[in-house]
Amino acid sequence: MSKNIWIIANWKAHKTTTEALDWISQVGPNIPENDNIKVVVCPAFSALSEVKNAVLAGGYPILIGSQDISAFGVGAYTGEEPGEVLKQFIGLTLIGHSERREYFGETDKTVEEKVKMALNSDITPLVCIQGTATPVPDGCKLVAYEPAFAIGTGTPDTPENAREVALEIKAKTGAEVLYGGSVDQSNIRNFLKIKDINGVLIGKASLDPNEFIKIIEEAAVESSEV
Ligand code: PGA
Repeated sequence: MSKNIWIIANWKAHKTTTEALDWISQVGPNIPENDNIKVVVCPAFSALSEVKNAVLAGGYPILIGSQDISAFGVGAYTGEEPGEVLKQFIGLTLIGHSERREYFGETDKTVEEKVKMALNSDITPLVCIQGTATPVPDGCKLVAYEPAFAIGTGTPDTPENAREVALEIKAKTGAEVLYGGSVDQSNIRNFLKIKDINGVLIGKASLDPNEFIKIIEEAAVESSEV
């Protein structure tokens, strides 16, 4: 049986709701029938509700994720988005992205608390790590290896390095490991070819619907060969 291939779009702080819906209406009908390919889109919090409605209305095979989750539950935590509230929209959440760590002071401890909150709300946590030294909290079955030097720079890590990190993380945690950092349609297959890499997390190249459709097509070709 072929492996799971996760293709995850991290829009970061981009796209109004109108732009988000336009993307869904273009990408949704172009996702090939393939049980092994799991397409996930992570919009801004403000677009989650309408994106979910559009995905349901179109019957598109797109899972919805958030880019963060609160380390707290429901309560007096101004500005936070707790799992119990988010779970009406999402099935997955990114946790500990390097931009969260760099600009918003997230630590390994916060990441651990957020993973617990996600699991308590039946939301799949996808923890981002910068290398094998970053801890992966218990219960986390999806991990993205995203070295900071490769994020948004146009210079991805080598598939060989990504493979080594994936092997080590998989052996330690049993998680499926994704690669992220300057993935686009021209290089995605170099990563998907590697048996122990279960997909990619994509920022910049996920924003343009045409580019993203090509990325999914590349993944489908690779999926038929692995
Ligand atoms: P990039 O971002 O694809 O723009 O390098 C990846 C990420 O930050 O998840």
